Amino acid sequence: MMTSSLQSWPEPIVRVQTLSESGVARIPERYVKPPSERPLPIPKFTPRGRDRTHDSTNIPVINLDSIMSSGDRSTLLLEHISYACREWGFFQVVNHGVSDELMGAAREAWREFFGLPVEAKQEYANNPSTYEGYGSRIGVEREATLDWCDYFFLHYSPRSVRNPSKWPALPLSCRELISEYGKELTELSKRLLSLISRSLGLEGDYLERAFGGREEFGACLRTNFYPKCPQPDLTLGLSAHSDPGFLTILLPDPHVSGLQVRHRDHWVTVKPIPNALIVNLADQMQVVTNAIYRSVEHRVIVNSARERVSLAFFCNPKSDLLIQPAKELVTEDRPALYSPMTYEEYRTYIRTKGLRGKSQVESLVRLPTKN
Ligand code: OGA
Ligand code: NI
Repeated sequence: MMTSSLQSWPEPIVRVQTLSESGVARIPERYVKPPSERPLPIPKFTPRGRDRTHDSTNIPVINLDSIMSSGDRSTLLLEHISYACREWGFFQVVNHGVSDELMGAAREAWREFFGLPVEAKQEYANNPSTYEGYGSRIGVEREATLDWCDYFFLHYSPRSVRNPSKWPALPLSCRELISEYGKELTELSKRLLSLISRSLGLEGDYLERAFGGREEFGACLRTNFYPKCPQPDLTLGLSAHSDPGFLTILLPDPHVSGLQVRHRDHWVTVKPIPNALIVNLADQMQVVTNAIYRSVEHRVIVNSARERVSLAFFCNPKSDLLIQPAKELVTEDRPALYSPMTYEEYRTYIRTKGLRGKSQVESLVRLPTKN
């Protein structure tokens, strides 16, 4: 249901990039997070071994080289996927089939877009009914604390909602790169979905069907632009959240880290490896797997030295399909944890409230859980 509160922003929109470029020494109060949500201060000099930037913990890396998908190696690959999904819900993939040139060109086209004068970007200003276009906030609650980020959000799939005339016309290569990138990422998402299905002991096409089938998936691209921030210890580029769909594939900025993943009550900073893509499980995967696999909270920290660009490709279920735990994964010992709900209904929550950790998927639980 679309409420009237989703037709327009409750307050005038301020572009974070404009704020950043104005050279303010202090960030406006609206961006200051409560102390419990702030990132830990990053000390410039720390005793050896304790410098977090040299922390060796990283999310798992999975090699998708096609040789891994055949014969005995395929069992090993499924074991790696199962471990990464159960233990982390986040992993980097290498040899994923998306060309390095395409990834680089897409990212640089978006960097150029954000480098355009603000008036040029303003033509694409979005509103909260579809979010499509150039935006600077998520959620419509009045006086909410804001994140240090501007973004561009667009619909790629299904075809019926794809409208390239709403995509940036500049730089000139942008629309074509988005089409090409979307196509390759869609292929990769299907391959990942098949591996994830098999890692659960399900048929390879099980999850694809559960989320609405080949032609009906939703796919959206959000390019995030995190400007330099004069007080990075007080704010976040993106507040802690889990993604609402079933899978997200992120192209990070190779030069600037910032993504942090919650793992056993710690925030682990992801160290991108060259040309890898970062994959994470999202809320609808948790629902369909009956919480055997779970979505994972993540957030983004910013810094005062360098801006950062990332491309998040969100894979969502067909919007009017009821999503519920797979029968095959529901047993007497492990009854269905979630009631059926369409993705359309689910998404409205975030579009209204903004990013709130995992509170939404947790609010769906209908029985006491054993874990
Ligand atoms: C997102 C997201 C992470 C990043 O867009 O949902 O989590 O590194 N982005 O920009
Ligand atoms: Ni996210």
